[in-house]
Formats: sequence, C-alpha cells, structure tokens
Amino acid sequence: MSVGSHFGQRFRITSCGESHGEVIAVIVEGCPANLNLTIDDIQPDLNRRKPGSSPFVSQRKEPDLVQIKSGVFEGKTTGAPILLEVLNLNAKPKDYADIKNLFRPGHADYTVEHKYGHRDWRGGGRLSARETVARVAAGAIARKLLYQLAEITVQGYVEQIGEIKYTPNKNMDVPINFDSVNSNPFFFPDLNQISDLEQYLTHLRKSGDSIGAKIQLIAKNVPIGLGEPVFDKLDADFAKGLMSIPAVKAVEMGDGVAVVTQRGSEHRDEITPHGFLSNHSGGTLGGISTGQELKMAISLKPTSSIIQPAQTVNTQNEPAIIVTKGRHDPCVGIRAVPIAEAMVLLVLADHYLRALSPNLSSL
Ligand SMILES: Cc1cc2nc3c(=O)[nH]c(=O)nc-3n(C[C@H](O)[C@H](O)[C@H](O)COP(=O)(O)O)c2cc1C
Repeated sequence: MSVGSHFGQRFRITSCGESHGEVIAVIVEGCPANLNLTIDDIQPDLNRRKPGSSPFVSQRKEPDLVQIKSGVFEGKTTGAPILLEVLNLNAKPKDYADIKNLFRPGHADYTVEHKYGHRDWRGGGRLSARETVARVAAGAIARKLLYQLAEITVQGYVEQIGEIKYTPNKNMDVPINFDSVNSNPFFFPDLNQISDLEQYLTHLRKSGDSIGAKIQLIAKNVPIGLGEPVFDKLDADFAKGLMSIPAVKAVEMGDGVAVVTQRGSEHRDEITPHGFLSNHSGGTLGGISTGQELKMAISLKPTSSIIQPAQTVNTQNEPAIIVTKGRHDPCVGIRAVPIAEAMVLLVLADHYLRALSPNLSSL
C-alpha cells in the first residue's frame, strides 16, 4: 500500500502506521533549513484533532504526544528529512477480534481484502482515520513555514452538522470569529447554537445513529501565482488532498455546487484597477491563485460504525449480521477540521516552494 502513502512534490510527506499498531509516523521532505521548529509548533494542532476530548467525539483516549526524531538540530530544521512519531497508547485490537472475518459496511474492509488478500483488521488498520495524525503533524510544519514565508494562514470551521447550520446574516459579510470556533467542541462559529448541537448529538448517540457534516476552509495572504497548469492546478491539488481524508464525499471551491443555478453575470468575478469585485471562484482562476482569500468546503458522510445491527457478508461471502463495537465518533466531521486544514496547508507549502527559486537554503 506504500505507493499511495506519499503526498506533495517539493514539500513531500510520507505517512506510516496503523490504527491499532505501535505508532503513527510521518517523514517530511523538502522543508527548508533554518526554520525554528519545536514540538510546541506541532502539538497544538494534534491536540485539536485528538479523540476523547469531549462526549461528542470518539472516546479513544490518546495523548497524541509528538516526538521529533530527525531533521531538527538545536531547535532549527537542517533541511534533512524530518521524522515525526506519535505512539498509539490506547490501542484495543480486541474490540475488532470478533468481527475480523466480517466486512463492516461503509468501511474499507471489503475493498482492502479483495485488493490485497491480507488485511490489518484492527479498526481499519492503515485505512483508519487514525492515520490522519501523520497529516496533522506534517501540516503543522507547513503552517509554521507558510506563516514565516508570507504570513499565510489556514483556518477551518464546521458550517453544518445534519440539520443544524451556521447562518450568518446574509446581508452582511460577517467575519468568522476563530476564537469562538476553537473554544467549543464542535469547531462551530456561533456559540448561541452550541446547546442545540449538544442536544442534537446526544439524541443521535442515544438512538445509536450518526450524522454527516460540512466544513468550510479559508486561506488568507496567499499570493497570486500558486498552482501549475494543467494537471497540478492549485484547486485540483486541494481536491485530491481533501478527498483523501476518510469519509469526505464532496469538495467544493468557492461557490461550489451552487454554481448550477447561478448566471454568468452573477458568478464571474469582475475586475477593477483596485482588485476583484467579488470572490465566487474561491480564489483561483485556471487553477492559479488570484491573490484573494481561498475558500473551499468539504462534506463528510455519517459515521458507518454505529451500534445498530447491519447486514453484511463474511470473507467466505456468506450472509451475516454485524454489530460494531469499539469507540466511534458520532459525527466524524467534527474532528476533520484540523485534518482538512492540514491538507490545505500541505498543498500550499508544496506550491509555495515550487513557485520560489529552487535553491532555498535559508528563510
Ligand atoms: C476524524 C475522523 C474520524 C473518524 N472516525 C470514525 C469512527 O469512529 N467510526 C467510523 O465508522 N468511521 C470513522 N471515520 C470514517 C472512516 O475512517 C471512513 O469512512 C472509512 O475509512 C472508509 O473510507 P471512506 O468513507 O473514505 O470510503 C472517521 C473519519 C474521520 C475523518
């Protein structure tokens, strides 16, 4: 499976590790030398992603403490590959022993078994969202690098969980308050809606069901000119990176699927000597950044592992009923916010370094 474990060209990551194995690790190649880097730059993003932090996410209790194993000397990157490790300390493979010969609906068990004929059945193994620890750790280095290079920032928030949607006043361009977003367990911008979300998810969990979600992402201070025609367009790389997150079923750029009912007179972003009059495109034209804010969104499916019994087959293709145990997120979209930010950061770091001169020995 290793051919699919790398992401990026100039800023490149290789992700390693299984859900209930010993460790999740990531190798980051292409980070320039002389970037100040300590675990304090990486740990905050891992803390935002980690499970067990509220009753509304998986109750797997992982401290997710990162260790920098190579590529950093005296607090600065050397330009060599950086190896980051996070130990799996709360793995419980026994939770999956009873169902190791059954294919969990909505999971990769079925496809992995048919493709490889040998499968790590412990909570999805390599295909588990536990793997995204690697992306978030690497994304934190990209975050530091991009801020240092051009004060580029990337932030995400949950816009919708099931029927509950963040609806700012349509007549005003209300900026998202990211302090509010990061102060509640749902990454939701409107603190007045938190108790509705708590009730909603508590009810869902009690009924043994789950729900989907939509996340919005914003990148600021991105200069004009990132993105390579024709296959390495910036938006194409965002789509690949974001779609590679487990459970993501749609990626949208700018107005996204709403363009279906828009007129050209409404959608095309008119240009003046002072800049664009609107940003329906989401900040790219022809896959090259326009210098405006980048805006994108992802939609995630509802958690497949719920306590309600479901029909499936075993590895002999015989019918069976499956009841999944283990610790699960009632809405996987919540913890996907820092993961999605990481994928956007990784794409931007890759394209920023590609756009600069190839010899970047210091910042
Ligand atoms: C942060 C995060 C946490 C997840 N947690 C769970 C979970 O607890 N239970 C579950 O059934 N799926 C969970 N998923 C989704 C599965 O990993 C995913 O649906 C599965 O690997 C199949 O991949 P696909 O949905 O992309 O086809 C999670 C996804 C993310 C992004």
